[in-house]
Amino acid sequence: MRANSKPAAPLTAAVALLTAAALLLAPAPARPAEAAAHHVGYDRYSLTVDGQRVLLWSGEFHYFRLPSPALWRDVLEKIKAAGFNGVSLYFDWAYHSRAPGKYDFTGVRDVDRLLRLTEELGLYVVARPGPYINAETTGGGFPAWLKTVPGRARSSDPNYTRAYREWLARIDPIIARHQVTRGGSVIVYNAENEYAANTDPAYMEDVQRQARAHGIDVPISHNQCCDASWTPTWATGQGAVQIPGVDDYPQAFECRDPDTWGTWGEGVTERLSTGAPAYAAEYQAGAIDLNRAGYEKCRELTGPNYMKIYYKSNLITSGATMFGYYMAFGGTNWGRLAQPNDVYTSYDYGAPITENRRLTAKYDEFKRQGLFVTGVAPLAKTDPVSAPASDNPAVHTEARANPDTGTQFVLVRHADRTTDDDQSANLAWNTPDGAYTLPVRLQGRDAKILVAGYTMGGQRLAASTSELLTHTTANGRDTAVLYGTAGVEGTTILRYGSRPDVKVISGSVKSAYSNGNLKLDYTHQGLARVQITGGGREPLLLLLGTDAEAAKFWRSGETLIRGTDLVRSATTRHDTTAIRADLAKPGDIEVFNATRRLTLNGEYLHARRTGSGTLLARAKGPRPVELPALNHWRGRPGAPETTLEFDDASWKVADHTTTAGPIKPKKPPVLYADDYGFHYGHVWYRGHFTATGDERTVDLNAITGKGGIYQVWLNGRYLGSAAGGEQKDADAPVNENPGPGTFDIPAGLLPKGEKAVLSVLVENMGHNDDWTADDYRQKQPRGLVNADVTTNPITWRIQGTRTYDPLRGPLNTGGLYGEREGWHLPSAPTKAWVTASPTDPIGPGVHWYSTNARLALPKDQDVPVTLHIEPGTGRYRSLIFINGWNLGEYVNGGVQHDFTLPDGILHPHGRNTVTLAVISEDASKPGPVSLKAAANVRGGVPAP
Ligand code: GAL
Repeated sequence: MRANSKPAAPLTAAVALLTAAALLLAPAPARPAEAAAHHVGYDRYSLTVDGQRVLLWSGEFHYFRLPSPALWRDVLEKIKAAGFNGVSLYFDWAYHSRAPGKYDFTGVRDVDRLLRLTEELGLYVVARPGPYINAETTGGGFPAWLKTVPGRARSSDPNYTRAYREWLARIDPIIARHQVTRGGSVIVYNAENEYAANTDPAYMEDVQRQARAHGIDVPISHNQCCDASWTPTWATGQGAVQIPGVDDYPQAFECRDPDTWGTWGEGVTERLSTGAPAYAAEYQAGAIDLNRAGYEKCRELTGPNYMKIYYKSNLITSGATMFGYYMAFGGTNWGRLAQPNDVYTSYDYGAPITENRRLTAKYDEFKRQGLFVTGVAPLAKTDPVSAPASDNPAVHTEARANPDTGTQFVLVRHADRTTDDDQSANLAWNTPDGAYTLPVRLQGRDAKILVAGYTMGGQRLAASTSELLTHTTANGRDTAVLYGTAGVEGTTILRYGSRPDVKVISGSVKSAYSNGNLKLDYTHQGLARVQITGGGREPLLLLLGTDAEAAKFWRSGETLIRGTDLVRSATTRHDTTAIRADLAKPGDIEVFNATRRLTLNGEYLHARRTGSGTLLARAKGPRPVELPALNHWRGRPGAPETTLEFDDASWKVADHTTTAGPIKPKKPPVLYADDYGFHYGHVWYRGHFTATGDERTVDLNAITGKGGIYQVWLNGRYLGSAAGGEQKDADAPVNENPGPGTFDIPAGLLPKGEKAVLSVLVENMGHNDDWTADDYRQKQPRGLVNADVTTNPITWRIQGTRTYDPLRGPLNTGGLYGEREGWHLPSAPTKAWVTASPTDPIGPGVHWYSTNARLALPKDQDVPVTLHIEPGTGRYRSLIFINGWNLGEYVNGGVQHDFTLPDGILHPHGRNTVTLAVISEDASKPGPVSLKAAANVRGGVPAP
């Protein structure tokens, strides 16, 4: 460990204290852009960079759930525009490693590129490489080959140790060269993940020892599950980290009931270490769709009201200054990325940014809070203080203040967090600038953080019952935006040396001046504008709006912009302000503190100067787009393995008698797919035997993970299908008979003494996680686990994925015949296929369809395209391949009908191959398939 990551020594602390007051007058520093080394430190209040306090407000992003590096920029710019100053990034071991010793960090796995991007955008990074990450990803981030390594994972077992050290030796150096201490973005390193059950401190210690040896010198953190009752917290003792954090999901995951409230408690982040900041390492910002209600319901469950009450309460009650909101953008479980117990293809998560990269009402609320918490410096160092007394017990107040500046932050919420009452109160407020009695009102589920005693640029905000969004200083003028609930009264008091000139430019605002106090009274309605000059201060443009008006503002540096659907950046050079923005429709764009000329996405905009001294222009919306219909399909059947004559001589013989897994087969041989190196997607088995003539049934048992199926043919005759076994996280000990299937053998099918072949197709839906570190779940086998067919010996052969696809990685391709032959790829020999339609009635087995779609989407627009699949009849599922990439699995009767096709995989200006592998369990008629535009905006990031 390097000295510079230790808590500040007393001397440094004293120096820091002297500079603190001065620094606190400026907004919290954006991440330093220049590639110079910086010092990262921390104390009980916050992280510091070169002694300046940083309130870390980060959102979680999984690059592995967006297989398009060009779009990483889109999402990260959106995260930044919401006011986040950081991102929390898991690194997924399974995504990078297909076999022991084999690692890939290129293409969609180029995490160096990802970290360079965070640097460029000025976002801090909490790097979370596990080795275990959970994250509802297959194996919880463990590569499936780890299932064949003996010894308990997440312990100091020597075999596991060899394996995880291999991963850390690859990933840590990449992270290390992007640390803030080397001019990069990584400010914290998170060791392990919610490591609270079956713990082994020596292992926890070694993960950190490895990190240090690999050059990690920023503080190391850990994310404790749920609350401090989960032990150890890794705050003290062997394996302790420097900044122990806590994960919290107060709304739980019951998206079916989005009105439930606080199922898992108060959601207040506990401080686990007296010497480190309170850290909400994962704080709920969405939910897994556990009961398949659809992610829109998860977004409701964790919507703006929840965010207001829980996030603001957490800030003030806990005094936390480090936050990781899980998720900012969820993304897609493409390929075989899903951990099947909890999730399906979409990992939208009900997050503020949708899977199709759209911004939601939650995004607006994040922006309202994010601009405030990352822009108001005194919030990074606060202690609890007595709160203004409320004359209504139903209105609860709580406060913190910065000990150096005196700035107060007052939480106002209902005493009963669950109520949606309309309550008013008078607050008797002793502020640093005087005592005021001010009315407040809470309408419905709501909470506010009110500010007093704040030096706001060149102004002095004595107190306000409106919330502060942000404030900027440019061209000798301050601009501040305050907001409140529409229709609710607000008061703002500003201090002046003498009576200032007050001009209400728009809206209805009453002003009164006495004893240095300029008191403004108004009702939040639209956007009011007040111009204040004189009084011994710089001019101020005060904007007083509703919540909705506040959400229309964007901030880039000191430039404030109103309008458009997203402002990615604004830079001013000479007399021109260049704006990069997205627009879903034509609209006004207003630039505060702009110079003379405006450009929007590189085009000159005709702008006029307004009475508020701003520049106002009209911006164009997108041109309409049309997507081609999917026609001219060609198809062919895809399960030749079912026939007697199929040649499987090249397949592996499944004859192992032992397995490293803790679950042993009842009788040999071991048929577990992973034991033969087939880790993802479908596997085929062919069992060869000579019939006794007495066989009556085929009794099988297969483990597929939740939602998987297996299908059985005997001598080419279809016997049927069964649901594969699953093990829920709660199942312990392991279910002995998880996926039974008994199939009758038709009379005459197995004449005595004749050779017979049993063909079984087993789907692997992904691997269980290891949340409780017991090793059983993640090592649970996939494939056949038992087969009773005949008393004669059976020779088993097994085949899964045949060749490795270095571009698309280990999780993309399974072992269907067509996948082994490359039928999912654009190079598939579909000319030799027959004219067909994916809506043709089909029988059991595998059916392939392919077509081409030429897209010509406008280059200056962002049109996220989805594949829409209408429900059909029958039991079937379809693997969706776009240009060879497995972008999901449609299950008829399941919850998901729209599949995100990210640009980069999809060519928005060219030819695309759309291929479906339809796997039917019986006679079925699949529904129609079409391309849809999930949105259409002018702007976006340049297409790859
Ligand atoms: C946490 C875990 C995350 C994720 C989340 C639920 O317990 O650390 O990785 O699984 O729950 O989405």
